[in-house]
Parts: sequence; structure tokens; C-alpha cells
Amino acid sequence: MSLIPEKIRKDFPIFRNNPDLIYLDNAATTQKPDSVVRSIVNYYENFYSNVHRGVYRISEEATSMYESARKNVSDFIGSGDPSNIVYTRNTTESINLLSYTIGRKLKKGDRILLTEMEHHSNIIPWYFLKEAGIKIDFAKVKEDFTLDYEDFASKLSPETKIASFTHVSNVLGTINDVRELTSMCHENSTIAVVDAAQSVPHMKVDVGKIDCDFLAFSGHKMLGPSGIGVLYGKEDLLTEMRPFLGGGEMIREVDYTNATWNDIPWKFEAGTQNVEGAIGLSSAMDYLKSLGMENVMDHERRLIKHLFARANEIDNLISFGPLDLEKRAAVFSFNIGDVISYSLVEAAIKKNIKISNSIHPHDVAAFMDHKNIAVRSGHHCAMPLMGHLGVAATARASPYIYNTISELDLFMDSIRDCSMEMKR
Ligand SMILES: Cc1ncc(COP(=O)(O)O)c(C=O)c1O
Repeated sequence: MSLIPEKIRKDFPIFRNNPDLIYLDNAATTQKPDSVVRSIVNYYENFYSNVHRGVYRISEEATSMYESARKNVSDFIGSGDPSNIVYTRNTTESINLLSYTIGRKLKKGDRILLTEMEHHSNIIPWYFLKEAGIKIDFAKVKEDFTLDYEDFASKLSPETKIASFTHVSNVLGTINDVRELTSMCHENSTIAVVDAAQSVPHMKVDVGKIDCDFLAFSGHKMLGPSGIGVLYGKEDLLTEMRPFLGGGEMIREVDYTNATWNDIPWKFEAGTQNVEGAIGLSSAMDYLKSLGMENVMDHERRLIKHLFARANEIDNLISFGPLDLEKRAAVFSFNIGDVISYSLVEAAIKKNIKISNSIHPHDVAAFMDHKNIAVRSGHHCAMPLMGHLGVAATARASPYIYNTISELDLFMDSIRDCSMEMKR
């Protein structure tokens, strides 16, 4: 079944309030449908209270909403058991949790394998472990913007205890075969961590099928509220891990000398939880389920195919990412021209100054903003990858369920206009 974005848009207050907004920054964060907003308001207006603490009615209701949201998350990613689902703030916190727990068990000389296409949130938490003598390796990205699986395999040494890799690159849109990577890891007795920030919102992800040991994602990138994220982990690993943060709720018993820990997942959820976040995330998953994740993916494929077709019309547009649609999610990073200049295109246009070389992505994004088109520009928290691509920055359009083909046409027209200004 094809998604009808024109119909979907009607469910989103932001588009009712800004009918001309062309929002193409979904890899950064997504808009929220009425149902998500209402689920949060319902909690605030009818059940607001702390969870797992009160014995009174609304607290028990809130606890039940919080825990049934966890069951929904567990079902959404095929985890099979809600206790394998830890609520965090976002993907970043999920990976920091891992670095602080499984990472701290590593010994000097042990290695961690990442890839050249990681977001900083899957690099920096592991860099913290360098102080303890842990070495970090990066598997290469090939010229066709896909991961070099042979290089990945060759860097899985006996010392590689953890490998952490993205499912979908937030810059290239490359979809990695995380099942294959996980299987390579397991043959080497390496723990496999998947950064699914850019995959869970866009495609059916099943942790049972991937067989990864951990998987992290963020609610705000999938129609849910900000401040709620997920870490999935295999039960035995979560059980043997030390807690991350200490405080209320994560303990079983405390005395003046010692403490013991709560069961999973609560051992990892210290302090007052983000109850509204969990409820909103669950509602976002219900919304996506009602569309069908296969349909979401098909819609995005149609959009990216259209972008490819239109991109061919613009001579000096350089896009980064695989051309094979099977290996590509709906992330379109591009530059106009090949030399990055910090020229202020807007000011130049006003003064009728000719811009002789390429346009800086920030200027492209500013140009687009004048047409009410929201695209991201910058290094996308992937500075090592930018270095590998030989650019300081790119502009990036990342469409989602509510984007239409005609919006993409306006976006492409505006790239063409921007590029024409450059040539003048
Ligand atoms: C691939 C990838 N990983 C991790 C993150 C970090 O997500 P968050 O900021 O929600 O923690 C992002 C955010 O853009 C991302 O694209």
C-alpha cells in the first residue's frame, strides 16, 4: 500500500500551522503527529505522577502506561522480552551507557572496531576508553560509499572485544548489512553494537533476526518526543553489566556500607523516569505501525529515486551516497560545486556579486530557508567522514513519511536556482 503523504500531513500540527513549510531535516529530528502530542497531554492531564513508587491509583496507572510502552517498544523491534529494553535519553546516552559498562571491563591492549561512517555519538563514548589503553580501529568506506566488509573482517582481531557500527549512515544514507556484520563479530567472539538511530524510524528492524548484542535508537527521530531513547540488550549481557547511573529506583537494597542492584531493565534507569517520553514514543510507534514499516520504506525509496532523477539535471551538484537503491536510505547529502567557500551567497546575490566557485552548504541552507525549505548543513556530527570525503561540510535533505514528490521538486528547483546564482 502506498503512503499518501498529503493525507499524513493533516495529522501533524506543525504543517497545519505552517502550511508552506517543506521540512527536509528528518535525519536530525522529526515532526510529531496529533496522537503523540495527545498521549503526552493525556498523561499530564489525567495521570501525572511518579512511576514505580506510589501505591495510589494514578501512580499505578502511570506505571502501567510506562511499562506497557516498554512492551510496545520491545514488540516494535522484535526483542521478545520487555526487560531487554532500557529507556535512555537518546542514542548518544545509550552508547555512553555501553562505554561506561561493557567498555570499562576491557583491558589495556583490547580493541574496539568502528567504521569510518560513524556519527560522533558512536565514536566519542569509545574514545573515553583510550585513557585505559584501549585501541580504536575504523573499517573503511569504499569509493561507492558502501562499507568495506573485507576491511571490517580484517580488522576483527583476537583483541577486538567490541564492534559498534551504524545501521544507516546519517550522511551517506548507506544501509549496512548489520546481520552480516554481527555474524562476523560473533565468529570472532566480539560483542556487536548497532547504532540504529537512522534505521528504526524508517524500516522494519528485528533484533532477533540481526542477532546483535545491543542496539540503540532515539525517539525524536521517529515521531516521538525528545529526551527518550532506547538501548536494547541481550538479557545475559544486561544482567552481568554494572549499572550506569546510581540513585533511586536502580537499587534493591542499600545500607550504610553497601548496595545491591535492581533487576534489568530498572537497574539502568536511575532517578525519576521520563514517563511522558516513553508514552509518547509508544504512541509514535503505534502511528508508524498503522502506516506499516514496509510502506514507510517504499515511500522513502520513491522519494530518493525521484531525488536521484532530478539531481542528474543539475551539472555541478555533487551528491554523496550509494546510487544502488537497495543499499540506500532517504538521506541526500550534497554540495554545489566542489570547492567549499565561505562566501555569503545571500549578501552576494543582493549586491549582484558573481560567485565564482562553489557555495558553502550553510549558504545553500540559508538560500533554501528563504523558500521555507528546511535542510541541514554542516558536518552532521561526522567530522571523520567529512575528512574522508574531502569536504568540510555538506548540505543534507532527509525526507520522511509526510514529504511529497512536489515538495522535492520545489527543493530541486531551489538547488538549481542556487547553482545558477553561483554561475552568474
Ligand atoms: C547515525 C546516528 N547515530 C547517532 C545519532 C545521535 O542521536 P541523538 O542525538 O538522538 O542521540 C544520530 C543523530 O543524528 C545519528 O544520525
